[in-house]
Amino acid sequence: MLISGGRLVDPSQPLDARRDLRIDAGVVVEIGEHLTPREGEPVYDASGAVVAPGFIDMHVHLREPGYPEKETIATGTLAALRGGFTAVACMPNTNPALDDPAVLAILADLVARDARCRVYPVGAITRGRKGEAAVDFTALARAGAVAFSDDGNTVMNARVLRDAALDAAAIDGVFISHAEDEHLKGNAVMHEGVVSRALGLPGSPAVAEDVIVARDLLIGAETGKRWHIAHLSTRGALDALRHARAHGSDATCEVTPHHLLLTDETIRTSGAAGKVNPPLRDASDARALRDAVREGTIDVFATDHAPHTAAEKSGDLLHAAVGFTGLEVAVAAYALALPDLPLLRFVELISTAPARVLGVPGGTLRAGSPADVTIFADRPWTIDPSSFASKGKSTPFAGMRVPRRVLATIVGGELYRVPDAP
Ligand code: DOR
Repeated sequence: MLISGGRLVDPSQPLDARRDLRIDAGVVVEIGEHLTPREGEPVYDASGAVVAPGFIDMHVHLREPGYPEKETIATGTLAALRGGFTAVACMPNTNPALDDPAVLAILADLVARDARCRVYPVGAITRGRKGEAAVDFTALARAGAVAFSDDGNTVMNARVLRDAALDAAAIDGVFISHAEDEHLKGNAVMHEGVVSRALGLPGSPAVAEDVIVARDLLIGAETGKRWHIAHLSTRGALDALRHARAHGSDATCEVTPHHLLLTDETIRTSGAAGKVNPPLRDASDARALRDAVREGTIDVFATDHAPHTAAEKSGDLLHAAVGFTGLEVAVAAYALALPDLPLLRFVELISTAPARVLGVPGGTLRAGSPADVTIFADRPWTIDPSSFASKGKSTPFAGMRVPRRVLATIVGGELYRVPDAP
């Protein structure tokens, strides 16, 4: 296939110029200024659009095995394709948890049967994600785990975490921190601040995140384990990361679209649709995160796609499920949050960097690479959750007018055109 006339943006080369791209047998074979279609070769006209290495979302909840009413491999990976993602890493808070090679084998069968994009499992750090006994890291890595996390929960016992990090130090897969001190968080349903006090709701203070980020960065440095901070959301956590880096840490971090764009004020208008862990913070945190993206402190964009059923997300904030769907709005929401972000930097954050952090293929369109490609354009649209492929329809972005959309996604040379994209 020839993808012609697009603006090719590939931070791995680096390249940001009008170029044609030829794909053959699932691999990128050629990039050129004017490639002539061969006889019978399909041509995708990408004029006016951006052609980038396929986006990789390293933080997604696909819910299988265990919660097919919330999401399945089929619906979650179709949502990924529509959102521009050619690969996702799926989190282990399934039922059973991804803590054993036998469970990874069940997942691998589901992925082989149903997945529309590449799926990389994240193994648990502790058995059952209970925070007590470490998993068998070697066995999980052999069974396909590319990283390890108890995401959804913090490993609260520092001794357990340190021993696990020492145990896994020689294994490639990065440790990913879910950073919320459970005791400081208590029964919180939102960020602790002016809004939680006005609404009379229990809040989780920013320091609940800061202390765990600081602790985990220290444990990472001391044990030599490679470390990544998930969904970083506070100024204090940014400070802890800067401090660790000034002392030689190579830890990485990610930020979500919702923490960049929304604040605890969203809870007033969206209620349960805005309930998420870590919670939407205040305006100064969101501003600090955007500044940190611009200055290079943030490594990765990730969605924390966390679908739940409509029933679980309805009703009052105190009882509603935590998290919301993200794959199909992410590209648009990032553009809204950071309208001036150079495209090379955007593609680095959403493709090249996550490939590097996870140690998986992708993030590049160099000749010889897998033909995983995302084609998108700056075209406004309105977010309508009823059109989502994901089973999760709840999002605080519902109804927003957004500036950018995904037109097509190519996985291993196979083209998927997003329905209704202009
Ligand atoms: O809001 C969230 N939902 N944060 C998490 O860390 C877990 C996720 C879920 O699995 O629903």
